[in-house]
Amino acid sequence: MTENLNQMIENIKVDAHNKVALADSLTDLDDLLSQFIGKKGSLTNLKTELRNVTPDLRPTIGKQLNEAFQSVKAEIEEKIEALRTSINTFDGGFEDLTVGLAQISTINPGLVGHMHLVSQTTLILEDTFLRMGFSIEEGPEIETDWHNFEALNIPPSHPARGMWDTFYLDTQVPETQLLRTHTSPVQIRVMQAKSLPIYSVMPGRCYRRDTPDARHLATFHQIEGLVVDKGITFSHLAGTIDTFTKAYFGEDINSRLRPAFFPFTEPSAEFEITCTICRGKGCRTCSNTGWIELGGAGMVDPNVFEAVGIDPEEYSGFAFGFGIDRLAQMKHSLPDMRQLAEHDFRFLSQF
Ligand code: DAH
Repeated sequence: MTENLNQMIENIKVDAHNKVALADSLTDLDDLLSQFIGKKGSLTNLKTELRNVTPDLRPTIGKQLNEAFQSVKAEIEEKIEALRTSINTFDGGFEDLTVGLAQISTINPGLVGHMHLVSQTTLILEDTFLRMGFSIEEGPEIETDWHNFEALNIPPSHPARGMWDTFYLDTQVPETQLLRTHTSPVQIRVMQAKSLPIYSVMPGRCYRRDTPDARHLATFHQIEGLVVDKGITFSHLAGTIDTFTKAYFGEDINSRLRPAFFPFTEPSAEFEITCTICRGKGCRTCSNTGWIELGGAGMVDPNVFEAVGIDPEEYSGFAFGFGIDRLAQMKHSLPDMRQLAEHDFRFLSQF
């Protein structure tokens, strides 16, 4: 028993020493205090065991236990003191968090939170379009199948639905509610709710059942544009896109429209801009074409006007939609879009 106790005391000392070395918070250290020398601590418990030690050995073991107790206590308290001092290097300590934050921000401005790059980009886009005379509208992220597809000239089971891998919600009638796959359904809501003419942009979060990669996210952001008025033509669309491109990226970046297909516009176009990485010379990012695709656009399909009760004989319009995350990626030459969805402080604090 005596030998055992001897060994136990030594083992506990080593254990305590190792745990103190690993502890890096005041809470950890408080826990260690109670674990080893608190009322029910392992060293405290051994004191009751002393009763079973033969009287001749009791003083020696007692002394050993006492010393172990004191040294473990001192080791933990020393570390607590050291940690407190390092935390309190700022004058006011952390009692008043606002004071602490203000002090941190003068030492390292990046340490204080700021708007995420995607939010900053959204605000700049909104500002750019506001200056061009557009209003800003929003719509819900949980949409009906009707707004997200049907009213946009994509009937149920239409093969064009394959363009958007959709998260359907398990509520109400199956396959009637979903997470919007693009911001285009907001066009429908705006045309239903607002009076004509319409000059609006609609930013927001969208969702697709996609595997994220360097150029795609499953949760991402788009900005939609919609103009409905009398006498709107394709050249208004081209002019608007080019004005926006130059306002946002600078005068040396051009835009172009190439034929494409979208069910809700006719004719439809893909909207490309000069590659911002190589400024049009050709590089790996733009597959040596000098151009990067930003989004889709086109003249609003008469079927879409009919779905919301606008007379396509009297009114015409154009629409466009593009990825905000993609835009931020282009503007800041980000190699991997997934960085926008992760929360790596070192990455985020650069913007
Ligand atoms: N909603 C389309 C998408 O996410 C992009 C788009 C294409 C929007 C053409 C438009 C448009 O408004 O006219 O793939």
